[in-house]
Amino acid sequence: MGEDHIEKKINLVALSGSIRKQSSTQKALYSLKNFIPENVDYGIYNVIENLPHFNPELDGDQPPEEVQVYRELLSRADGVIICTPEYIKGVPGVLKNALEWLVSSAELYTKPVAVITASGNGENAHQALQLHLSMLNANVFKGGLLLISGADSKLNADGGFVKSEVNASLKLLISKLIEEINKKEAYK
Ligand SMILES: Cc1cc2nc3c(=O)[nH]c(=O)nc-3n(C[C@H](O)[C@H](O)[C@H](O)COP(=O)(O)O)c2cc1C
Repeated sequence: MGEDHIEKKINLVALSGSIRKQSSTQKALYSLKNFIPENVDYGIYNVIENLPHFNPELDGDQPPEEVQVYRELLSRADGVIICTPEYIKGVPGVLKNALEWLVSSAELYTKPVAVITASGNGENAHQALQLHLSMLNANVFKGGLLLISGADSKLNADGGFVKSEVNASLKLLISKLIEEINKKEAYK
């Protein structure tokens, strides 16, 4: 059978902007598994804190091993989901650092990226993250943005969202992401 006849499984990778052990954004990313279709692979890169502080001097032919692993993971992803809280009116430093490591290597270039900001308010981080992603030329597509303000009060102990409208929005976001990936595949 020729390669053209083998259906490729969609591969999604998620990043959390919070590394707190009981983080609501990390829990939200785990709860997203409920909305991922069976024929789609979904993995969470939840060791973002292992990436060293970005330093252009380290970003040569042999970047640190954790950076290589992270970049490889993202380069194999067809789409990316970022879920983040807001810290002091912006994107948490640990996530910004992770994005800085993608400037020279361009793993997010034209890649569909869905953005979920789940925070007390979150409006500023939501806007800032879109600006960062535009600098990376990521494809932040229509229907791929979700701001969940007052996130703490909308989560249950297991990290699932209790409000049905939030769950409906998450489900829609995932389906739009997959739609966007398929659109891109069709033009290849
Ligand atoms: C250092 C710090 C700064 C924060 N700054 C903001 C802020 O500017 N805007 C906001 O909406 N929430 C802010 N928060 C609240 C967090 O975004 C909120 O608690 C969020 O749910 C934490 O996400 P996590 O549970 O995934 O760690 C801040 C929290 C901390 C610890």
